[in-house]
Amino acid sequence: MTLAYLSGFGNSHATEALPGALPIGRNSPQKCAYGLYAEQISGTAFTAPRAVNRRSWTYRIRPGVAHLPFAPYEGAQGWQSHFGSQPFTPNQLRWSPPPFPDAPTDFVDGMVTWAGNGGPEAFNGVGIHLYTATQSMHERFFYNADGELLIVPQEGRLRLETEMGILEIEPLEIAVVPRGIRFRVILPDGRARGYVLENFGAVLRLPELGPIGSNGLANARDFLAPVARYEDVEGDFELIGKFTGGFWTARIDHSPLDVVAWHGTHYPYKYDLRHFNVIGSISFDHPDPCIFSVLTSPTDTAGVGNMDFAIFPPRILTMQDTFRPPWYHRNIASEFMGLIHGIYDAKAEGFLPGGASLHNCMTGHGPDANTFEKASNADTSKPDYLRDTMAFMFETRGIIRPTAQALQSPLLQKDYYQCWQGLPKHFNPNQP
Ligand SMILES: [Fe+2]
Repeated sequence: MTLAYLSGFGNSHATEALPGALPIGRNSPQKCAYGLYAEQISGTAFTAPRAVNRRSWTYRIRPGVAHLPFAPYEGAQGWQSHFGSQPFTPNQLRWSPPPFPDAPTDFVDGMVTWAGNGGPEAFNGVGIHLYTATQSMHERFFYNADGELLIVPQEGRLRLETEMGILEIEPLEIAVVPRGIRFRVILPDGRARGYVLENFGAVLRLPELGPIGSNGLANARDFLAPVARYEDVEGDFELIGKFTGGFWTARIDHSPLDVVAWHGTHYPYKYDLRHFNVIGSISFDHPDPCIFSVLTSPTDTAGVGNMDFAIFPPRILTMQDTFRPPWYHRNIASEFMGLIHGIYDAKAEGFLPGGASLHNCMTGHGPDANTFEKASNADTSKPDYLRDTMAFMFETRGIIRPTAQALQSPLLQKDYYQCWQGLPKHFNPNQP
């Protein structure tokens, strides 16, 4: 069955699963149609500017408060939100893709935190996680009070059944589940693996386009939100919450996916990365990677992101007399990268789909020796067609701290530095 979606980034959508369930001209009538309860969910301050204000009104069978008290949850052991304060290595780090767990594991319990900064209580920074899941969530639901979740599948589809409706995503698509929205994750392919960015900071939005103009990069109309869909189901269910970095569980005697109608701006959405309109140089030089930004979480400092989500999709490189791969660099920003599909153009080998790399503030990195030789001698009078690739980067202004479980993981490639050791000296003072 093809799902229906509402189109547009940040738009105020309105949708109802029963005719007349949405009140007209008011948000909280004295009595709602069909005996529903009205409940507002606000994802930004009430007085946030209109362009970034996020709040939705839901009209539901029971309000969100109707569940038993929370108690500590013993699962989700690998999902962490505190990143320490001790010095740690400035070395370049790279990991092989994680294997699937042997025991049945769902999306929440299968989350393993690889790195992060800031924290939920300060409302800044990010958690960076890898998930491997082999089991759908059926009798339980999850919400995250600590941040919104940017989900980047690498293998296997995800069916996100949320309060606002259903989103289905596959590798090369992404989804964002806002702070607080309750959902469960179904695995249509039986298992799934990918990356999650947990954004503790300002809500994700499209970057400004400046001189690019009114079109390009990720176009607003390609972002899709679900239509209202409700479950009127009673039973013995579990509601898992993440709050202040801890996990909590409560019994709930009905499905919380009971929203019959909703309107507003605080809702989950999806985006197909294949719709990204790549902008690049058509003369010379390799532009800064911000040209690949899909979404950004800004800070109070203009131009400095809490997190920028950039992708490196299929594209045509035409720059002449130019070293076409990313040049060698050391940046103030810290960069966590993943590979969804294919080959990344700055690395000949070792950076695998499902794997990850971390290059922190002022840590040198760039093409490996093989890539350097090839690109230095390429014929730049002809275009390069990069067809089989989709890498991405979570770039943050804060240092990205790897977790102990990432540093101690057998997936850590201890020989990563070797890829730059074959760089020969070409310098000859007698040959300009
Ligand atoms: Fe970089």
